[in-house]
Amino acid sequence: MKAFVTGAAGFVGSTLVDRLLAAGHTVVGYDNLSTGRRAFLAEAISSERFSLVVGDISSQEQLAQSMLGCDFVFHLAANADVRFGLQHPKRDLETNTIGTFNVLEAMRTCNIRKIVFSSTGSVYGETAVVPTPEDAPFPVQTSLYGASKVAGESLIQAYAAGFDFQSWIFRFVGVLGERYTHGHVVDFCRQLFIDSNNLNVLGNGHQQKSYIYVQDCIDAIFCAIDSAAAKVNIFNLGIDNFCTVRDCVGWITEELALNPTIKFGTEDRGWIGDNPVIFLDTAKIRALGWSSTVSIEDAIKLTVRYVNNNREVALGSSENKPAVSEQKA
Ligand SMILES: NC(=O)c1ccc[n+]([C@@H]2O[C@H](COP(=O)([O-])OP(=O)(O)OC[C@H]3O[C@@H](n4cnc5c(N)ncnc54)[C@H](O)[C@@H]3O)[C@@H](O)[C@H]2O)c1
Repeated sequence: MKAFVTGAAGFVGSTLVDRLLAAGHTVVGYDNLSTGRRAFLAEAISSERFSLVVGDISSQEQLAQSMLGCDFVFHLAANADVRFGLQHPKRDLETNTIGTFNVLEAMRTCNIRKIVFSSTGSVYGETAVVPTPEDAPFPVQTSLYGASKVAGESLIQAYAAGFDFQSWIFRFVGVLGERYTHGHVVDFCRQLFIDSNNLNVLGNGHQQKSYIYVQDCIDAIFCAIDSAAAKVNIFNLGIDNFCTVRDCVGWITEELALNPTIKFGTEDRGWIGDNPVIFLDTAKIRALGWSSTVSIEDAIKLTVRYVNNNREVALGSSENKPAVSEQKA
């Protein structure tokens, strides 16, 4: 296939790019490098089958120019941070919803009809059904991020009905692994790199969360696009298990060999929009033969090892220096 990957320089996107190239596909990556890093594409850039377009999904025109000749779109570009939505109320709408609309319109212009979309378990809001299956109701949205992804999913479904698109929508739990740059593991590591004796945790630490290792996540995506052939294919992607934030803190401090004083909050959640429980039913993807290979504990520890060996991820960096090879449209 000739794949077009938005968000190609991000944590999940760059891992996907490497895996697509390893499988023999040709890949055009598209990214505005806002949170993505050129360094994550260092290996990809050495391949003749890869090119990078530095571009923004706000531009339908640039998207269409760049994806011409591709036959499959993997749309991962997004504002992926749930936590700061209320500080920037337009950001999720513009990037995650209107950006998705722009990708769909560019696909229509280029006559490309297959799309993978990275959605999120946050779409279920504070559901009473746990573990949550794909057909659980979406009772109430609690974050602008979740709301923007529900809207993105809906647009894709409408394009499938109206313009004969085929779509694979994946609702990820938290993804962990090498190249992880945002989320609670980075936040905790940052605090501990600055002061190894103290750690402040948002919320009371009893929040229950499920996670998936990034390579398992990519395996599941490949499995689903090989085996699920409906017009709209929706899959939860996660591990058949969850942990508490307290478990995570224990594994993180153990991996860093630290014994800090830990201060928990009093609320059952860390911030508005932090769902106290995210645990998805993954029977549907497992029925296709996929299973996870890395436990949550190991995924957390691998992530801590990566962040500890790449401390600029947590402490800020001078990334995004000029690219080795890049295609500007
Ligand atoms: N990481 C997780 O735990 C997780 C969980 C659920 C869903 N997701 C979804 O998976 C996808 C990838 O997430 P990630 O963790 O790799 O995040 P990330 O921030 O590492 O990757 C997002 C990429 O999109 C790019 N981008 C952002 N805005 C853009 C724009 N306007 N135009 C072009 N490029 C833009 C960024 O530069 C970055 O490279 C996102 O859609 C996210 O919502 C991630």
